[in-house]
Amino acid sequence: MASTSVRTLSAAPPAVNVANVNAHLQQLQTFASSNGGNRATGTAGHTATTTYLQQKLQAAGYTVTVQTCTTCSGSAKNIIADWPGGDTSNTYMFGAHSDSVSAGPGINDDGSGTATLLEAALVLAANNPAMTNHVRFGWWAGEEQGLIGSKFYVNSLTTAQRTAIKAYGTFDMIASTNGGYFVTGTDAVAVKLREYFTSINVPTETSTECCSDDGSFRNAGIPSSINSTGASYKKTSAQVAKWGGTAGQAYDPCYHKACDSYPSNINSTSLGRWANAELYAAWTLTTGTAGPGGCASPGQKLGNPGFETATTPWTASTGVIGANTGEASPRTGTRDAWLNGNGSTSTETLSQSVALPAGCSTYTLSFYLKISTAETTTSTQYDKLTVQAGSTTLQVFSNLNAGAYTLRSYNLAAFAGQTVTLKFTGVEDSSLKTSFVIDDTALTVS
Ligand code: PHE
Ligand code: ZN
Ligand code: ZN
Repeated sequence: MASTSVRTLSAAPPAVNVANVNAHLQQLQTFASSNGGNRATGTAGHTATTTYLQQKLQAAGYTVTVQTCTTCSGSAKNIIADWPGGDTSNTYMFGAHSDSVSAGPGINDDGSGTATLLEAALVLAANNPAMTNHVRFGWWAGEEQGLIGSKFYVNSLTTAQRTAIKAYGTFDMIASTNGGYFVTGTDAVAVKLREYFTSINVPTETSTECCSDDGSFRNAGIPSSINSTGASYKKTSAQVAKWGGTAGQAYDPCYHKACDSYPSNINSTSLGRWANAELYAAWTLTTGTAGPGGCASPGQKLGNPGFETATTPWTASTGVIGANTGEASPRTGTRDAWLNGNGSTSTETLSQSVALPAGCSTYTLSFYLKISTAETTTSTQYDKLTVQAGSTTLQVFSNLNAGAYTLRSYNLAAFAGQTVTLKFTGVEDSSLKTSFVIDDTALTVS
C-alpha cells in the first residue's frame, strides 16, 4: 500500500521552457554585475531584482503586492503575486528568496528559485486555466539575514489569512551543479513535487540542511516544505549512485561565494526539471476540477500533527507523547511520540480518528519514523510497529528497519469520504529493546 509506484500524471500542465528561465537568470546576473557584484537586501542589485519581478508579474495579469519589509535593511520589498480567481480560503503558496549574500550574485542561491517560480507563474498566467483553488507566489527579501522578509509577511497576515494557506513550498537553490533532489516536508506542495519527480523517474530524498523561508510559515502553523538541490553539505557516494555527480564535494561548491554566477553555477537540467515540477504542483493544486463537486475542504487533516501540544486529539498509551530526549529526540519542535523501547514485553498504541472529505484527488498520510534497537539479528522481527488505517494494515516495521528519521508515505484515497482511525501499535518482546519514534505526521488532502 506504500505509494512508491510510478503514477500516471493526470491533468498535466503545459511545459515550462528552460530557455526562458535562463533568460531571467541572465537578467539577475546583469543586476548584480552592474551594481557591485551582488543583489543583497538593501542594495541596488536587490531593488533591480524586485522591480523586475513586479513588472513581469503585473504585465502577465497578476495582482502584485509590493510589501515594504520595514524590518529588512533598506526597507527592501517583498513581492507577492496573486493570480485572480479560485477559492481564496484554499490558497496554495510558492516562494523563493529574492536576495543574495553580499559575497556574490546569488544565481543558484536563490536566483534559481526566483527565476523558476517567475517563469512557472508566467506560464500559468499565459494559459489562463479555470481556477478551483487560489494560487499565490511570493519572493522574500532578507532571507540571508535570517528569514526576515518571509517572517514579516507571515506576521502581516490575520489568523484567517494564515488558516487559508493550505500549503507553502519554498524553493531555495534548485540548480546546484553537484546537487540532488530534496523535497522535505509533508504539505500538499511536497506531495505534488514527489508525484512529479516520480513520474520522470528522478528519485527524491528528504534533507536535514537548514534553513530557509519555509521556517517562517511553519512557525505560524502553515504546512510547509523546503525544496532544494542542496547547499553546502557534501554529496555521499550513495547519492552519486542515484543522481551522478562527485562524492565528497558540496552540492554547490560556490555556495555563498562570488562564483555563484551565471551561467557557470547553474545545472540547466535541474533548473528545467524543477521549473516544471513547480508548475505541476501549482497547476494540479489549483486548476481544473477535482471530481464531482470538487475538493471542498483540502488541507492537512490531523490534529496536533507534531505532538507539540499535550495529547488531544491523539489517544495514546501513557508516556508515549511528550518531550522525549536521547534516542527518542524529536525531529522538529520539542515533543514527539515514542512507542516501546522498554526492553520488556509491552504493547503501546497511538491513534487518531480523522474525517476525510470526498471529491479530492490526493489523500496522503505521511510521518517521519526513527527506529533504534538493541536487537542484533539481521533476520528476525522481534519487536514490531504496525501502522493501520481502519482495518487495513499499511505497513509493519520492526527492529530490522532501524535507522534515522525517514519519511513514510501512504495513499489513503480508498478512505475518501470516510472517517478513519489511524493506529500505530508497537509490540515488544521480553528482551533487547526497540524504540519506534514518530514525529511530524500529516494527512494531506488536495
Ligand atoms: N537557505 C540557505 C541560504 O540561503 C541555504 C539552504 C538552502 C539551506 C536550501 C537549506 C536548504 O543560505
Ligand atoms: Zn544563502
Ligand atoms: Zn538561499
